[in-house]
Amino acid sequence: MTAQPLAEATAPGKVILFGEHAVVYGRPALAAPVTHLRAQAVVSADGGPDMRLVAVDLGRATTLNNARPDNPLAATVRLVERHAGRPLPRGVTLTVTSAIPIASGLGSGAAIAVAVIRALGQVARLTLTREDISALAYEIERLHHGTPSGIDNTVIAFEQPVYFVRAAPVNRIEPFRPTQSLRLVIADTGVRSATKDVVGDVRRRWAADRNRYEAIFDACGRLADAGRAALEAGDLAEVGRLMTANHEQLVAMTVSSVALDRLVAAALAAGALGAKLSGAGRGGNLIALVTEDSEERVCAALQAAGAARLFRSAVG
Ligand code: MEV
Repeated sequence: MTAQPLAEATAPGKVILFGEHAVVYGRPALAAPVTHLRAQAVVSADGGPDMRLVAVDLGRATTLNNARPDNPLAATVRLVERHAGRPLPRGVTLTVTSAIPIASGLGSGAAIAVAVIRALGQVARLTLTREDISALAYEIERLHHGTPSGIDNTVIAFEQPVYFVRAAPVNRIEPFRPTQSLRLVIADTGVRSATKDVVGDVRRRWAADRNRYEAIFDACGRLADAGRAALEAGDLAEVGRLMTANHEQLVAMTVSSVALDRLVAAALAAGALGAKLSGAGRGGNLIALVTEDSEERVCAALQAAGAARLFRSAVG
């Protein structure tokens, strides 16, 4: 008989509709949750002396006391303990599972952090607002990739489409609702790509040629603003056109890849309203905006063009 969990919580994956990378440099971006692809954290009693940390998908298990300093689950537990101002109970197992592909631009790291923070918050009887959860998850994002903009933890903790601008002292976060629901096909290249590496490489290229990169980031920011206006006006054809234009800027930024470009071309040729890579790029996923009529055709074309996996998602 398995023990009754003391707490369990989940969090969704995410896609970036407009503005990845440029958002790190203060330009606006739009992101949406992928509600049916989720990470889950379960805390159950085990009667042991420590807290066991089990990452099922990675086939890894350790305890809080034995965890390496860079273990993200241990870091999340310690962060929640600091926030609570007291230790969390021992004699428990924290088990994490996720249906979100790792290192593929769908926010798996931030979703795991949010699910764990929510579950530990229940165990510690903390009242955590979505802002608190997002701020705590941001600290974990910083461990994963150095200079995150904060958009991933925000959209995942809010579980709503958001317009996001990284700013000091506080980020601009505006949840929004598209007038028309968006039908997205998410296609995985099957190529894993670490956000930290791609963000770091963009930073090196920006430092070497600031004028060129600032101009690309400006163009992405304008596309995000126009994308928001088109979403609010319910003009899906325009949203699609702007997404494809954003992909072209990401190509200019050098974060696309042969596989991503092939999938974008296949989706467009099959009648998608627009398509772009989503997330850090150089692998990971692309999103294609489709209609009820074009969805099956686009899925078939993406499969024929080599997509390793397809997910369907609706926004709004
Ligand atoms: C990753 O989902 C989006 C990036 O813009 C990085 C970030 O915003 O932290 C590539």
